[in-house]
Amino acid sequence: MDFSPALLSFLRKARRVVALTGAGVSQESGLRTFRDAQTGLWAQYRPEDLATPEAFRRNPKLVWDWYAMRREMVRLAEPNPGHFALVEMEKRVFEFTLITQNVDGLHRRAGSVNVLELHGNLQQVKCSVCGEAAAAWEESDLGVPQCACCGGLLRPDVVWFGESLSQDALQAALQAARTCEVFFSIGTSGLVKPAASLAFLALERGALVVEINAESTPLTGKADFFLQGKSGEILPVLVKAIW
Ligand code: OAD
Repeated sequence: MDFSPALLSFLRKARRVVALTGAGVSQESGLRTFRDAQTGLWAQYRPEDLATPEAFRRNPKLVWDWYAMRREMVRLAEPNPGHFALVEMEKRVFEFTLITQNVDGLHRRAGSVNVLELHGNLQQVKCSVCGEAAAAWEESDLGVPQCACCGGLLRPDVVWFGESLSQDALQAALQAARTCEVFFSIGTSGLVKPAASLAFLALERGALVVEINAESTPLTGKADFFLQGKSGEILPVLVKAIW
């Protein structure tokens, strides 16, 4: 794999680096990306139609079961070489921020520390009424588990379409994007805002933007470098070439 010498020399000198990741980074851990077709029982639904407050109001059990299935897939999955390469990057860069749209928690499991989980984490569950976090719950075929405090239905602590992101995480992500020297956009289709705007903000502020993706996206034409391929193959080689 050949990288441009200009890219390598810029990366070697960079002190503030941001990586924004999306579902593509977990694809090589065997987790389906958001916009891949679903299979089996779930083939008739689009994720965009399940990850909404309206879907939960209409059919809470359906949405709960979809997340229970995803939680189980994540439990069985392992971080892949792309996740581990980002752990290495964090160790070597003066100020490194990992912003992820993934709710699978694999970056932290791999060992990344400074991680902003913009869309939450599906291993965490909270009450849909009072917001109290639930540490434990019993699965049942009959319905959705209920909150121990108020009896409300439990839901995954993730951001659904139409909901606001955690303001703290978003502000930290915006600040990191505004001030970084290098911004990596990795394995994300760049279709969902505000995460998708971060790369453009970094570009506007003069950062070098490097995209790693299996396919081109709306960012590709604007990025300084587009490294096409799998993040689990490209990232380890890139990290080794630089540091
Ligand atoms: P998507 O499923 O939209 O996009 C995955 C991207 O990863 C695509 O651009 C693929 O080309 C790329 N890709 C697939 N395999 C790859 C690999 N091995 N290496 C590198 N790239 C690969 O997922 P996201 O962009 O993460 O939001 O989606 C963003 C948000 O939209 C999600 O967080 C979710 C979704 O709706 C909410 O749930 C709020």
